[in-house]
Amino acid sequence: MATVTVRVPATTANLGSGFDALGAALAWHSFVTLSAPHEGIVVEVTGEGAEHVPHDERNIAVQAIKALIAPIGAERAAPLRSGFVLRLDNCFPLTRGLGSSAAARVGALVAANHLLGAPLTTEELLAIAAQLEGHADNVAAALLGGVVVAVMASQKVRWVRLIPTAELHLALLIPDFELATEKARQVLPSQVPLQDAVFNVSRVALLVAALATGNFHQLQEAMDDRLHQPYRQALMPWLPKVFAAGMDAGALGVHLSGAGPSVAAWCADPETATAVAEAMWQSLNAFGLSGAFRIVPLDKEGATVLGDE
Ligand code: HSE
Repeated sequence: MATVTVRVPATTANLGSGFDALGAALAWHSFVTLSAPHEGIVVEVTGEGAEHVPHDERNIAVQAIKALIAPIGAERAAPLRSGFVLRLDNCFPLTRGLGSSAAARVGALVAANHLLGAPLTTEELLAIAAQLEGHADNVAAALLGGVVVAVMASQKVRWVRLIPTAELHLALLIPDFELATEKARQVLPSQVPLQDAVFNVSRVALLVAALATGNFHQLQEAMDDRLHQPYRQALMPWLPKVFAAGMDAGALGVHLSGAGPSVAAWCADPETATAVAEAMWQSLNAFGLSGAFRIVPLDKEGATVLGDE
C-alpha cells in the first residue's frame, strides 16, 4: 500500500475588500494522509472536529477525491477505485473562517493526485477545488500559498500569487462559536448600490498594489469593505469594537476572516501582533464572549507533499 502525507495551510479569505477574490495562506497547518489501494473507504479524523465530521463517504475530503477520480478515467485512477484510507489531522479550528473545508479538499486532492502520479495539473486541481467550495479564494491560497488573487472565469480559476515585500504577522482572534459560511452568506443582499461597488473596487485595487509594493500604511483604508462585513455585522455585532481595538493597538489593517467569526489583523512585527491580539480578545470579552488568539506569519508554500512511502 502506498502512502502520501500533505501539509496544508489555514487560510483567511476576502481580506476585507476582496470579497470572494482574495485569500492568504497562514503558517498554521493541518495534515492529510492518503493510503491506497484498500478494500473500501476508511476515514480517520484526529484533532479539531474529530467527533463531528463524517467518517464516511459524506466527508468533504472523500468527495474531493471522488471528484478527482471522475475526470481522469478508470485506468489512471485504478489505485484509488477500490477504496483508500484517508486520515485528516485537523490542527486548526473548523467553521471559524479559517479555511478548514478548503484545507480538507485541497489536501485530499493534492494527496490523491500525487498518489496517482500527477495526472492533473495545478490548474485542474484548483478548478475542482473551487467548484466544490463554491468560491476560489480559500482554496487558491491553500493550494498555492502567499496572498492569492483568484477569479472564477468559465470553469477556470484565473490567479496571481504574490508574496508581500516584508514579513507580516497576522493576529487571529478566534471566537468560541461556529458560523457556517452558508449562514453568513444568507445575510448578504442580492444587489448593492453602485457607489458601494465602486468603494470596494477602488479599495481592493489599492490593497493588492499596497501588498505588492510594501505600502503597508495603506492597508487600513484598503481593507475597508461595503459588500459583506456591514451585513455580517448583524450576526457579529461586536465587530466594529474589535476592529477598533485592533487598530488602536497598532494593526496595519483588520478584517473579518472569510465569512467569520474569526478576525484577522495584519501587523508589522510579532510584538505588535501580540498586543493587537490581546486588545481584540479583551474587546470580545467585553461582549461576554470568549475566544482564543494566535499569531501567525504567512505561509508561502501552500499545500506541500511531505513524503511518501
Ligand atoms: N469568500 C467567502 C465568503 C469565504 O466570504 O463567504 C468563506 O470562507
